[in-house]
Amino acid sequence: MVVDNSQGDDAALYEMVYASLATHAMTEAELSDLLRSAREANRRHGITGMLVYHGMEFLQLIEGERETVRRLIANIERDPRHEHVDVIWEGPVRRRSFQQWSMGFVVPDDRDLRRLPGFEPTDTPSLAVVTKGEPGRRVLMTLREQLLGTDARRAV
Ligand SMILES: Cc1cc2nc3c(=O)[nH]c(=O)nc-3n(C[C@H](O)[C@H](O)[C@H](O)COP(=O)(O)O)c2cc1C
Repeated sequence: MVVDNSQGDDAALYEMVYASLATHAMTEAELSDLLRSAREANRRHGITGMLVYHGMEFLQLIEGERETVRRLIANIERDPRHEHVDVIWEGPVRRRSFQQWSMGFVVPDDRDLRRLPGFEPTDTPSLAVVTKGEPGRRVLMTLREQLLGTDARRAV
């Protein structure tokens, strides 16, 4: 007997968090172009998540059906608008963290970054405080609580 449960696994919800560096400082117009097409495609593919941009650094969480997330990250890795794409967390999840967001977007300021877990007073405000694994994911969730919920100016 052949047991194939790959269908069930493939349908499972999957989450990925990566950090990367823009190849040039993104203008507002470039960022809104990127977001417009990303959100349109994400709605089509059942992808939700959040993108953070601070001083040429990107941090993004993507959630959706596993194979769809993998295909998207493969696309994103090839995108010439950024480099050094570093997946800092990935794994199956029970439910979405960004159900309402085809791609939430925040631009934290230095004060927001200083309030992140693990940030030392001597650190330069940067998303590079993000560490691998679960702590990296926690940084993103903290930014979500600080910014997506409370500040409509910076959360689009
Ligand atoms: C920082 C960053 C984040 C991105 N996020 C998404 C996203 O959430 N969804 C998406 O469809 N494309 C996103 N893109 C764009 C993809 O890299 C790619 O251009 C898009 O999937 C279209 O690929 P295609 O032309 O091969 O279909 C992002 C690009 C960058 C640089």
